[in-house]
Amino acid sequence: MDKKVTVIGAGNVGATAAQRLAEKQLCDVVLVDIVEGVPQGKALDLNEAAPVEKHDCHLTGSNSYDETTGSDIVIITAGIPRKPGMSRDDLISTNAGIVKSVTKEVAARSPEAILIIVSNPLDAMCHVAFDASGFPKERVLGMAGVLDSARFRTFISMELDVSVENTHAFVLGGHGDTMVPLPRYSTVAGIPITELMAQDRIDALVERTRNGGAEIVGLLKTGSAYYAPASAAVEMAESILKDKKKILPCAAYLQGEYGQQDLFIGVPVKLGAKGIEQIIEITLTDEEKQALQKSADAVQELKDLLKTLG
Ligand code: NAI
Ligand code: 2OP
Repeated sequence: MDKKVTVIGAGNVGATAAQRLAEKQLCDVVLVDIVEGVPQGKALDLNEAAPVEKHDCHLTGSNSYDETTGSDIVIITAGIPRKPGMSRDDLISTNAGIVKSVTKEVAARSPEAILIIVSNPLDAMCHVAFDASGFPKERVLGMAGVLDSARFRTFISMELDVSVENTHAFVLGGHGDTMVPLPRYSTVAGIPITELMAQDRIDALVERTRNGGAEIVGLLKTGSAYYAPASAAVEMAESILKDKKKILPCAAYLQGEYGQQDLFIGVPVKLGAKGIEQIIEITLTDEEKQALQKSADAVQELKDLLKTLG
C-alpha cells in the first residue's frame, strides 16, 4: 500500500479503527501501545484475517515509534476511557500527559502527518496535540462530530423508519454534554427533520444524541463506545487519504470563525489531502449561536484547566 496510517492505542477504538482501515483497503497500518504484546498480537491477528477478508494491507504492531516513521496520518486513541459515573472531562489529567508524550513521539518521526485526535476530553486533547506537535492548524483535528452526527442519524432513521443512508445530520460544538445538534441542518433525503417530526420528538432525539456516549457506557459498564467511534475516525482518514474533500463536522482550531478565538470545537470542515482545507461557516439562529457559545465556553474552561496541569 502506498499510504501509511499509525494508530496510537491498540485498545477498543484503536484496534477497531485498524481493522476498518485494513478491511477498507485504505493503507498499511502501524498499531502502537504501551502494553507489551498487545499491538503485536492484534496486528498479527488482523494480518491473519487478511486472506479471508481479501485485502493486502499490512499491519505492524509495536511498543516503540520507529515503525511509525513517515506516516500520512496518525490517529491518537491512547488514554483511558470513561467508566460509569465518569464524565469525559474526568479523564483530563491522565490523558493530557499521555497525548502530549505520544504526540511528541509521532510528530518527530512523521513531520508531515495529519493528526486525528480521538482521546477524551476530545477538544482539550486537540489543544494538547496541537501544542505538542507544533503542526499547522490544518493538520490537527479531532473526531467527535462525525460520531455524534452518526448517532443523531441513527436515531432519526429509527424514528422515521427510513434508511440511514437517506439521513444527514450536523452536530457542532464541543464533544460533551453541551454539544449542539442542529435539527434545521439535519435532513432525510434533503428534507429538514423539522418538517418531518413534531418538536417534542426532535427534542427527544437531540437529548438522546447528547447522552449517546453515556448511554453506551451505562450498558457496557467496563468502558465506552468503540465501533461507531472507530468508523467515524476512519471516515475522516478516508476523506484525507483519497482527497475526497468531504464536508464533515470535526474539531478544528478556530481563529475568528464562529466568533471563537484560538479554540478547538466542532464545526463543518472540508477534509482533503492537506487536512482541513476549509472551515465552512453556516448561518445560525440566535438560539443556535447561544448554544454554540455555551459549548465553546465549556471547552475554554477545560483549556484553562490544562494550563494549571502544566
Ligand atoms: P481502551 O482502554 O480500550 O484503549 C486505550 C489504549 O491506550 C489501551 O490499550 C492503553 O494501553 C493505551 N495507552 C495508554 N497509554 C498509552 C501510551 N502512553 N502510549 C500508547 N498507548 C497507550 O480505550 P478506548 O475505548 O479505545 O478509548 C480510547 C480513548 O478514546 C479514550 O480516552 C476514550 O474516552 C476516547 N474516545 C473518544 C471518542 C470520541 O468521540 N472522541 C469516542 C470513543 C472513545
Ligand atoms: C463517546 O461519545 C466516550 O466520547 C465517547 O462514546
